Amino acid sequence: MSSSFDVARFERLRAEIGCGLGAPLAALAVTGSTNDDALTAAREGAPHGATFVADHQTSGRGRRGRSWIAEPGDGLLFSVLLRPELEPTRLGLLPLTLGLAVRAAVAELGPPALAAATRVKWPNDVWVSGKKIAGVLAESRLGASGAVVVAGVGINLGTRRFPPELEERATSFARLGVAPQRETLLARVLRGLEMRLGCLSRASDEIVSELREHDGLIGRRVRVDGTDGIASGIDADGRLTLQLCNGDITQIHSGQLELLD
Ligand code: BTN
Repeated sequence: MSSSFDVARFERLRAEIGCGLGAPLAALAVTGSTNDDALTAAREGAPHGATFVADHQTSGRGRRGRSWIAEPGDGLLFSVLLRPELEPTRLGLLPLTLGLAVRAAVAELGPPALAAATRVKWPNDVWVSGKKIAGVLAESRLGASGAVVVAGVGINLGTRRFPPELEERATSFARLGVAPQRETLLARVLRGLEMRLGCLSRASDEIVSELREHDGLIGRRVRVDGTDGIASGIDADGRLTLQLCNGDITQIHSGQLELLD
């Protein structure tokens, strides 16, 4: 079975907007997980920018061992293999940088009235009006030739009904009343990622200030792995800053986050 992803259309868009990421492209009708495909390809020497997109995944993975489930054709599901030439200290910002690229593409192609409500939720979800529209799973490996990062993204496109536990917390382009094409969305995300990787290789300030501008958690009461506090921003290393009840400030590198308000 061939994929419904229009590779020729994607190639035209990629050339038009001058995007280097997205080649070589493998478009699959069904796969286990595009992240696994990209990790296998990385071991076999696939280049920076190699991209895997699927109509459907049978073992789609989310963060923290969760599954990522989408009906066939309902989502944009892809992974891009990155061999970033970055200082090791900047690698921590890479998943958030990817989140920013997804956020920007969703804001551009979503309803204009909701662009300002399209935000990054640390560590790497994208929200529209407080509901998750996209998730990012970045997995890195250290090889002989440096770090390899597989950046996997799932964006809810056509989904109208979610499982009951997600019904109030998730959204999709279809629910927002717009229907961008998957090829356009992928080309925009990859172009945005490429631009931001350029910023990150020069310095991290632009990425950190873009994160501050679009931080969906700022001022919210949250619990991270049992620690309660007020989310007070994201620092230059990509850590969440929490103001604790006693006024102390702490930085959190990773963890399971719950919203308390
Ligand atoms: C999350 O929100 O927990 C992250 C979800 C990431 C899902 C995407 S779908 C494409 C790629 N392949 C996978 O198996 N996972 C990522």
